[in-house]
Amino acid sequence: MIFEAENVVKNFGGLKAVDNISFSVEEGEIFGLIGPNGAGKTTFLNCVAGALKPNEGTVILFGEDVTGLKPEVMCKKGVSRTFQISRPFPRLTVEENVEVGAIFGAPKDHKITAKNRVDEALDFVKFPLSRETPAEHLNAVQLKRLDLARALASSPKLLLLDELAAGLTTGELEEIMDLIKKIRDRGITIIIVEHIMKVIRGVCERIVVIDYGEKIAEGKPDEVMNNPKVIEAYLGEKRISF
Ligand SMILES: Nc1ncnc2c1ncn2[C@@H]1O[C@H](COP(=O)(O)OP(=O)(O)OP(=O)(O)O)[C@@H](O)[C@H]1O
Ligand SMILES: [Mg+2]
Repeated sequence: MIFEAENVVKNFGGLKAVDNISFSVEEGEIFGLIGPNGAGKTTFLNCVAGALKPNEGTVILFGEDVTGLKPEVMCKKGVSRTFQISRPFPRLTVEENVEVGAIFGAPKDHKITAKNRVDEALDFVKFPLSRETPAEHLNAVQLKRLDLARALASSPKLLLLDELAAGLTTGELEEIMDLIKKIRDRGITIIIVEHIMKVIRGVCERIVVIDYGEKIAEGKPDEVMNNPKVIEAYLGEKRISF
């Protein structure tokens, strides 16, 4: 197993945002994490990426207990992520933002320069604008692509994607699904949080559903989406599209 979460809990005051979540992900898997708004998905990713320290439970990466390590340490250990709301360095160019990932990521093969890694990541995500564009000029969809390039440039082993497909057109969805599979084909394991079920069905082998911080189902996407508990959790949810 590349990744294991064991009974992870994250409280915000009296709110149990993540309540006893356990699951594991195999190397080379694309694993989905879904659930209604406010279910605790982003909070869970933050606990994995080191942005938040769990109150209880264990996060294991390649058999090593990495619970509570800082984001920069997790990045060096091979965990990269994209953000639900991208937070680039606004005054830096696209290229410079990706360079941050290339420089601060996992230990590198020094024959490949940071510049090469930046070029390769931007080519890989087919970044549509000039690399000299300041990040503050990008729209939300372009920022997500920048975020993805930055994460890839850090040479991750485990990539966490938080609503990468939000706001995309139908054509763009197909493209991003292809991209996600190509990333996996390079040997990168992926945990994907997504509200667009077409993407989840299209790329994930297994998924976990969380609701009010708790795991309510786990399995293959089609099985899980027909689970009455899951359907009930999503009733009244506007953002979901089965
Ligand atoms: N820093 C914080 N302080 C206090 N409460 C928080 C904080 N971050 C998240 N929460 C609360 O924790 C719960 C889980 O939030 P989280 O953002 O993890 O949900 P989510 O599943 O990612 O939702 P969405 O699909 O809307 O992105 C929500 O009730 C949210 O309001
Ligand atoms: Mg979220």
